Amino acid sequence: MIFNSLRGMRDILPEEVHLWQHIEESAKILLELYNFKEIRTPILEQAELFLKSIGEDTDIVEKEMYIFDDKKGRKVALRPEGTASVVRAYIQNALFNNPSPQKFYYIGPMFRYERPQKGRFRQFHQIGVEFFGISTPSVEAELIWLLNQFFNKFELKNLNYEINSLGCKKCRPLYKESLLNFLNNKITSLCSDCQRRFIRNPVRVLDCKVSGCKEVLKNIPLMIDYLCNDCKVHFSVLQKELDSFGINYFINPQIVRGLDYYTRTVFEVTTTLLGAQNAVAAGGRYDELVEFFGGPSTPAAGFAIGVERVVELIKKSLSFSLKRPLVYVAYAGKEVDQEVKRVIKELTKEGFIVERAYEDTSLKNQLKKADKLTVEWVIIVGEEEIKNSLYKWKKMKEGTQGEASLEEIIKIMKENR
Ligand code: HAM
Repeated sequence: MIFNSLRGMRDILPEEVHLWQHIEESAKILLELYNFKEIRTPILEQAELFLKSIGEDTDIVEKEMYIFDDKKGRKVALRPEGTASVVRAYIQNALFNNPSPQKFYYIGPMFRYERPQKGRFRQFHQIGVEFFGISTPSVEAELIWLLNQFFNKFELKNLNYEINSLGCKKCRPLYKESLLNFLNNKITSLCSDCQRRFIRNPVRVLDCKVSGCKEVLKNIPLMIDYLCNDCKVHFSVLQKELDSFGINYFINPQIVRGLDYYTRTVFEVTTTLLGAQNAVAAGGRYDELVEFFGGPSTPAAGFAIGVERVVELIKKSLSFSLKRPLVYVAYAGKEVDQEVKRVIKELTKEGFIVERAYEDTSLKNQLKKADKLTVEWVIIVGEEEIKNSLYKWKKMKEGTQGEASLEEIIKIMKENR
């Protein structure tokens, strides 16, 4: 019997893991510099946590959750995103007692039972950030600035930074009323999904990609025209802050996001290079969620980067090599094992990736193997070499070779990286 991985779930093989490690390391270094601390929450949570925070009428909750009963009949779910879990952990562990702001990041798998397609998986990975305790727009500005720095690290420059405001408790009801008035006599011309949305979560019709709906919804009222004064000021200060960071952004009044917990600012980083799944990162402010879950009233904001999509983008534009040289340490003669071990120890100390022969075999076979492995360098340790403390080295691609002390070889290899 042959097993395959589940639909929408895939293996990340060593060749690609290399890139993943690099992305994750770069994110950690950047976020730690801005005083974000890593938080690790369970992958399985009470289903209710997500139903209540993401919203019962969202696509994620309605159709995409991996939800099931545990052995005692309790409803549990694989996390479809990280924000709800971090908010739960923030409240459960009374992290609000620590000095504000509290800043967290997480890296890990998320699960959504979506129809798999290019850039969309059922198990995917996010690098996420959650920032608690500050209500000024300088928070969102810093989050977008962090995304900008992160993507610049990989020379990913053709990205769009899109922002919008979804208003607050005060201004939203007015908008909703005018939206319903507008949609009321158009329902029959909308797709079946939009008809459902009209009843359960009308704002989501703005997200519809069906061209017929787009036409009908051309003059749909937009939240941005209904903001109360406080929300307007918040949004305009955010724009000034983004200007002072020198970030090229644009206002996209159509962004509504697929999760219900947002208040005021929402943003997306999009690309034209990945087809329909064009968001590489997204986030926003959620000032009411902590209190909603029984914590003290705490403003908060965050974002999540979709790692699979970043990997795809980097692969498309990779202009730098991530591989460190691979060195094959070959041996000639019987009494050299000790020295081979010493050479390997020295090389790994210097950060070179090392391979060797583990079995009793001829030098000729070892060199053939080194060639097959496409190693970049070979160093030969033989009895003669040990006596003179001079080792033969060869750079495989160019065919250049010589004899030198280990220290000198390391120097040559570093200079020719
Ligand atoms: P989200 O927009 O649902 O937001 O997901 C963030 C990113 O995760 C997306 O922009 C996309 O790159 C990636 N992503 C989402 N679904 C998939 C999928 N099925 N396959 C591959 N990649 C995917 C959130 O999850 C919020 N928790 C972000 C946030 C944090 N807001 C505040 N704090």
